Amino acid sequence: MALLEVEDLRVHFRTPDGVNRAVDGVSFHVNEGETLAIVGESGCGKSVTSMSLLRLLPEPPAKVAGRIRFMNRDLLALNDAELRAVRGNEISMIFQEPMTSLNPVLTVGFQIAETLRLHQKLDQRAAAKRATEMLQLVGIPAPERRLHEYPHQLSGGMRQRVMIAMALACNPKLLIADEPTTALDVTIQAQILDLMAELKHRTGAAIVLITHDLGVVADVAERVMVMYAGRKVEEAPVDMLLANPRHPYTRGLLAAIPKTGASQHPQKTRLTEIPGMVPSLKQRIDGCLFAGRCAQATDLCRTVVPALQPKAPLHLAACHHALAEMPVAEFVS
Ligand SMILES: Nc1ncnc2c1ncn2[C@@H]1O[C@H](COP(=O)(O)OP(=O)(O)OP(=O)(O)O)[C@@H](O)[C@H]1O
Ligand SMILES: [Mg+2]
Repeated sequence: MALLEVEDLRVHFRTPDGVNRAVDGVSFHVNEGETLAIVGESGCGKSVTSMSLLRLLPEPPAKVAGRIRFMNRDLLALNDAELRAVRGNEISMIFQEPMTSLNPVLTVGFQIAETLRLHQKLDQRAAAKRATEMLQLVGIPAPERRLHEYPHQLSGGMRQRVMIAMALACNPKLLIADEPTTALDVTIQAQILDLMAELKHRTGAAIVLITHDLGVVADVAERVMVMYAGRKVEEAPVDMLLANPRHPYTRGLLAAIPKTGASQHPQKTRLTEIPGMVPSLKQRIDGCLFAGRCAQATDLCRTVVPALQPKAPLHLAACHHALAEMPVAEFVS
């Protein structure tokens, strides 16, 4: 049975110049211990989707509708006290920039211990002991010394390790990681992703990994959901999606991944960006939202919304032409 089940999630923001349909009818699930990656360009609704799971969006201007079931409870029906018990305990989150989530005037050890005291009701001694263990778990050398340091004394990679330690301190069932490595340089990025994969095996926590970079999902995620303009446009097990992307948008994202070693041939390294921009989520558009940027679009695409349908077992895509097999290189030329 699914740990998290999201059905027809809609998050609309009221703004002075119209309603922004940031998330518009998205359904997905996460199984126990599984990693689901959510990918898509900037502004596609990835963060809004994840923040709505824990009701972290200000309502208003946000209006959240649909169903969010977690361990058989309806998260949209919980009161504030019940939600606080879920947050940090059963579901925890890490964000792109740890400096904004860590308090600069408190030591790292105090902040981890505070999480444990608050959520797990541990006394000071037990919390301090567990904080040391957690720093050890996330690969921070000399944890006893680090506990007494302030966030600015740590490197970006170390700070993100501390955030992961805090997020996992209460043994959550689900960890939501919103672009956890985007602010880090490439080598550190790889280390943090490796750490997350290792910790997933050790703790058994399920992970929702949000990223705009399809290049990082192969080693970390089991399943990928691709979002475009507030909708889910494709979903498949990661190897199927990478080997045989069905939606032209996913093909475009794949073509935009930098290839390793490409820097030796600078003339060939220019990344192929998908032409055009994500359409405004405030206007009604007929047909497929991607049609304006799609090399394959036909009149059908411009008039009829493509339904999200299975194109192969376990492989869903919302594209009228998704059955056409086409190598990435041809689409991009
Ligand atoms: N508090 C808010 N009020 C109004 N609109 C918002 C608010 N938060 C997000 N939005 C809008 O919701 C849409 C989706 O934003 P979201 O942050 O989810 O994108 P994203 O996919 O996470 O992008 P990125 O990769 O840049 O993080 C955007 O149009 C954004 O402007
Ligand atoms: Mg985001």
